[in-house]
Amino acid sequence: MNSSMAMKLFNILLFCTPIYVGLTLSISAHAGGIGLLKKYDCASCHALTGPAPATLAALWQRKGPDLFYAGNKYRQAWLETWLQQPKRIRPAGMFYMNHIKPGPKRNMVDTSTLTEHIQLNKKDAKAIAATLASMKTHTALIQAEKHDASISPGPLGEMLFDKIYGCMACHQIEPGFGGMSGTEVYTAGKRLTPEFMLSYIRNPQAWDPKIWMPNAHLPDNNKQKLVNYIIKLSKESNDE
Ligand code: HEC
Ligand code: HEC
Repeated sequence: MNSSMAMKLFNILLFCTPIYVGLTLSISAHAGGIGLLKKYDCASCHALTGPAPATLAALWQRKGPDLFYAGNKYRQAWLETWLQQPKRIRPAGMFYMNHIKPGPKRNMVDTSTLTEHIQLNKKDAKAIAATLASMKTHTALIQAEKHDASISPGPLGEMLFDKIYGCMACHQIEPGFGGMSGTEVYTAGKRLTPEFMLSYIRNPQAWDPKIWMPNAHLPDNNKQKLVNYIIKLSKESNDE
């Protein structure tokens, strides 16, 4: 090999090394994440491979949300933070009927039956978040959506969410205000991708065939307004 060829080779190697190192690092973080999911036995409560529950009995017994499409659903940065500092997202747990007790006026959540989530250190949370972000079995559903941030919810946003479509019967728009059989939505903008929200609102059963959220057959413009309203709530709220 003459010296100019050797120089060329050297330059190519020099150029490639950082990319190569970067690639191996992200691959190894990801491989580490798979090992950690096993180590912490996350699959004892979460489905890491599909499909979603196909019967009501299976739905009611589900211990934690399905994670096999986590990469289509969650923001990776939020996953990383939440896994280090988990906070309750469903005020009455996975299936509200398992966690309510009679109260003086109406049913109340029996918080003694709800358990705290496992908390991870920063390194493990980062590796697991990277692995979860790579789990994308529902990319086709996400690609069918186009979020339009310019459609302002305006004062109508809350009207749509509360009075017109009755979403508030199941979802809280601020702590303690709203229904309890769904997730709190005032943190959803921080947790979820806008495309996931659009798709889920379009057809909840496409994601989770037996879930009790009804398909409201909304016109596209109102779906955009609702998603932008939910994102606005998250910006106003200090909750993570
Ligand atoms: C004992 C059961 C159990 C185990 C084990 C468990 N989780 Fe969870 N996980 C839950 C429940 C229940 C929720 C819902 C929390 C809520 O709504 O407040 C949840 C929520 C989550 C969420 C938030 C997603 C969402 O939409 O609510 C993530 C991410 C998550 N778990 C990841 C993990 C990972 C990663 C592991 C392993 C390190 C793990 N979980 C272990 C029960 C569990
Ligand atoms: C009958 C109760 C019910 C009604 C009414 C309802 N939802 Fe839901 N919604 C749910 C349940 C249950 C889930 C799934 C929660 C889970 O993953 O554990 C859900 C999930 C969602 C999600 C994903 C949230 C997340 O945090 O993962 C969004 C966004 C959402 N609903 C918006 C709406 C909107 C907008 C409306 C009104 C058009 C609505 N919902 C009406 C019960 C309801």
